[in-house]
Amino acid sequence: MGMVGLGVAVGCAVVTCAIAAALVRRRARSWLRWGGAVAVVEGFEEGCATPVGRLRQVVDAMAVEMYAGLASDGGSKLKMLLTFVDTLPDGDEDGIYYALDLGATTCQVLRIQLGGGGSKIINHKVEQHQIPQELASSTSEELFDFISLTLKEFVEREENGINQVLDERKELGFTFSFPIRQLSISSGVLIKWTKGFAIEDVVGKDVSRCLEEAMSRNGLNMRVGALVNDTVGTLALGHYYDKDTVAAVIIGTGTNACYVERSDALIKSQGLLTNSGGMVVNMEWGNFWSAHLPKTSYDIALDDESPNRNEQGFEKMISGMYLGEIVRRVLHRIAEESDIFGESADHLSVPFILRTSLMAAMHEDDSPNLREVGRILEEQFQMPGISLKARMLVVRVCDIVTRRAARLTAAGIIGILKKIGRDGISGVASGRAKGKPKRSVVAIERGLYTNYSMFREYMNEAITDILGEEIAQNVVLRVAEDGSGIGAALLIATYSSKR
Ligand code: BGC
Repeated sequence: MGMVGLGVAVGCAVVTCAIAAALVRRRARSWLRWGGAVAVVEGFEEGCATPVGRLRQVVDAMAVEMYAGLASDGGSKLKMLLTFVDTLPDGDEDGIYYALDLGATTCQVLRIQLGGGGSKIINHKVEQHQIPQELASSTSEELFDFISLTLKEFVEREENGINQVLDERKELGFTFSFPIRQLSISSGVLIKWTKGFAIEDVVGKDVSRCLEEAMSRNGLNMRVGALVNDTVGTLALGHYYDKDTVAAVIIGTGTNACYVERSDALIKSQGLLTNSGGMVVNMEWGNFWSAHLPKTSYDIALDDESPNRNEQGFEKMISGMYLGEIVRRVLHRIAEESDIFGESADHLSVPFILRTSLMAAMHEDDSPNLREVGRILEEQFQMPGISLKARMLVVRVCDIVTRRAARLTAAGIIGILKKIGRDGISGVASGRAKGKPKRSVVAIERGLYTNYSMFREYMNEAITDILGEEIAQNVVLRVAEDGSGIGAALLIATYSSKR
């Protein structure tokens, strides 16, 4: 080989080595960046861990806080609010009843016809209306005018324009899904707003009165006969169908639970007489807190940036308003630590851009190649062409968030059962008649449980983990569809027969 040939060969070798080195460097960088993404997810997963030991600590903490909240007002983050509901519907009610159910995003109006004598609901009609977002921060008058007009139009349609209701004053079941200090079964003042509502001039006011004034302004001849939390409505419907129903849980935009408590356990209102020896207590468990809850830096940041800092801690970990947002925060962090989402991950920095329904859709994507995940990432975040590996990581984040939420919800439920001696393991008062635990039904409502099968599966699995298979068989979670509103109408029926 001549000098020229040698020079060319050496030159080629040098170039080849340089290319190979660049490739190795690029691959190493990409591995490092991938490693950064994985490290974020692994750290998050570790922080969210809910081994059964921890769940049992949450069970105990829930039961302890329930005692404290019943002992005195302000004794616990659990408000344990009295509802004045001491009798639950049992199937004997009859007549036609209306209810209005104000939730976080929708307002439902409904009419039920009951046949009495155990014949159950003969007829029911429910209409759902979206609440315009701006109303959540408007004025009391605007909010109550909107809902009373919605109700008026519904009632007039239902009564075929006969104006019957306007002639004869009817009683209305009013479901108000925010914390209320009840003054009686039909009245109560708003303690604070949750779930993004902020209409300051309602706080401290009797919301039944606000609604009645709006109904009268708008020419609707009705009065509030029962003011109930959505959990209480759900419990009422659950009990209507199954007398073993002892508690109810809402797990939707917000979360809460109520249950039937013995009168003598209502220490903070000693001397209160009830017809049945018991009363439904609205726990407002969204505000539950315990050092045993697995809180991560993402939860802390979410809380810090929320309008109700240090409040609704449990709700911020488990309810629909927040799950998508927690996922978004983790994905944003991944984008900062790696380039697995490409150059254009800016949209990940927009708070609340990922709704929980979309997060659930990504989590439950069973298409080959996670097509749905790719579509949502592209449409929501303008992040096209995300690799399959990265999409799998996104699903893993959704799974971690949902699993933690579902398992903590399950622990909360067992905490209630423990408090009322129905967890089958708490000794003599435990409802273990001759060693056999009693059947306990928990009525349950709203999208996270009803529409999100992974959430449901994780919840059921956690109940078995905590209680063991045999005892867990006695805990029945039963969906009470539209229970929040129907239950309010049923309570009107129950109470009007007693008046
Ligand atoms: C409210 C509760 C309500 C729950 C479910 C929470 O934010 O404080 O009153 O029951 O959401 O709707």
